[in-house]
Amino acid sequence: MKVLSVTSEVFPFVKTGGLADVTGALPKALQKFGIRTITLVPGYPALLPMARAGAPLLVFDEILGEAASLRHFQSEDQIYFVLDIPTLYDRPGGLYVDQAGRDHADNWKRFAALSLAAARIADGILPGWTPDIVHTHDWQSALTSVYMREMGNDKPVVLTIHNLAFQGQYPSGLFPYLHLPVRAYSLDCLEYYGDMSYLKGGLMTSDAITTVSPTYSREILTPRFGMGMEGVLNARRDKLKGILNGIDDDVWDPSTDAYLARPFDAATPELRRENRAALIRELGIDEDEGPIFASVSRLTWQKGMDMLADVAEEIVYRGGKLIVCGQGDAAIQDLLAAKASRFPGRVAVHIGYDERLAHLIHSGSDSIIQPSRFEPCGLTQLYGLRYGAVPIVSRTGGLAETVIDANDAAMGAGVATGFQFHPITTEGLRHGLRRAIEVFQSPDQWQRLQNQGMTARFSWERSAGLYAILYRRLQDEAESGNDNFQTLATG
Ligand code: ADP
Ligand code: GLC
Repeated sequence: MKVLSVTSEVFPFVKTGGLADVTGALPKALQKFGIRTITLVPGYPALLPMARAGAPLLVFDEILGEAASLRHFQSEDQIYFVLDIPTLYDRPGGLYVDQAGRDHADNWKRFAALSLAAARIADGILPGWTPDIVHTHDWQSALTSVYMREMGNDKPVVLTIHNLAFQGQYPSGLFPYLHLPVRAYSLDCLEYYGDMSYLKGGLMTSDAITTVSPTYSREILTPRFGMGMEGVLNARRDKLKGILNGIDDDVWDPSTDAYLARPFDAATPELRRENRAALIRELGIDEDEGPIFASVSRLTWQKGMDMLADVAEEIVYRGGKLIVCGQGDAAIQDLLAAKASRFPGRVAVHIGYDERLAHLIHSGSDSIIQPSRFEPCGLTQLYGLRYGAVPIVSRTGGLAETVIDANDAAMGAGVATGFQFHPITTEGLRHGLRRAIEVFQSPDQWQRLQNQGMTARFSWERSAGLYAILYRRLQDEAESGNDNFQTLATG
């Protein structure tokens, strides 16, 4: 089976968050199920040297009025299609923002173009390669199925929601520039409270909707988590399914990780001390035995990073240390930086994105804190588990599903892997921290928790198997002309 995955980021080439980890790892895991994925990404500067090494596969007549070509490159055994539109993608700044951190003003066009190119590929414009299934991710590629349906193409499309907070909402005045027929701007497609929403268009025109944990798939049907999209999602709930993300076992393997001072595994957790020492040296924190709490995260309200800043004193006064590596909202960055200046040696804040440091933090800290207000899946707690940094998480979304709380029953049964807290408030987090510090003071108990986390399995294999089943059902239904999604939702 051939799948076209359409995404705005993919690890290891272009990444701002977990979306890249997922679109990078899932195609590799699907190969075991006989599924070959080609990933289509925009031609950002980081990709161009590889993509432009050979001749283009195809020169489009135009895409939304821009000169465009389709290029490709291969890395390991994965093939990537690169949509080369210099006017839209070859520019300084981030994937979505300019150098000053503002959204690129033409994001509406950049990601509509990606979707339109994907739809043309799905429709067979490329001699010799047509996908059986199209898999889109978040609002940035959600218009793909809208364009396909307008081309009269009914090929199955799976849309995965990684984060409902981002919906691709733009003024309806831009609609004429999308080169879609007027009927696409309707209540059952793009229209969204007088604007248009790319995500809504995708939700209304794809054949299956997945999100990255079963808990989040239920949460988003409610006003609290639905971000205004709960009505649409409830109308489409028979197509909605939660499939938990896995982690890439090759990229996040403490026994082979080249970023670490000393590799280790579940049988040799004592070797973590060398990573702890390296971390302490690098970030200039005190060498005592107090617990090191850490967070590697976007510094945003979603991630609860303001609450983390609020509990810095609690950590310090109880003898702990706090490390934060991340970037995001300026106000939250400032809050955290102020704690670092106030508590030198006890709080260290690295503002920026640093893949190596992220790995070292997971391998050398005692505990990873992820106090998200909502979390579709979350990957850092999974990396924490695998690397022996016991997670403290808010009880929501994928966090609630992947960390087994160290309550008496779970401790007694030998299955606990971390700490969950609720309600998701500063007080809730403070309480979670106190529980963790108490267990930390009993090394035997802490090591058991750590070991149970390190031996828990979150590889992609199981989840990729669920995507494979989903793809096959959609393909069978498409071939038999049977539009029975009920079986899909319950299966
Ligand atoms: P989200 O995608 O919502 O940001 P996830 O937990 O799913 O959250 O994924 C975040 C990914 O981004 C992880 O791979 C994490 O290690 C990485 N990450 C986040 N912030 C940083 C940072 N400052 N430096 C390095 N990696 C980071
Ligand atoms: C989003 C979510 C995160 C999830 C990631 C990958 O960025 O915020 O929870 O793990 O996508 O699916």
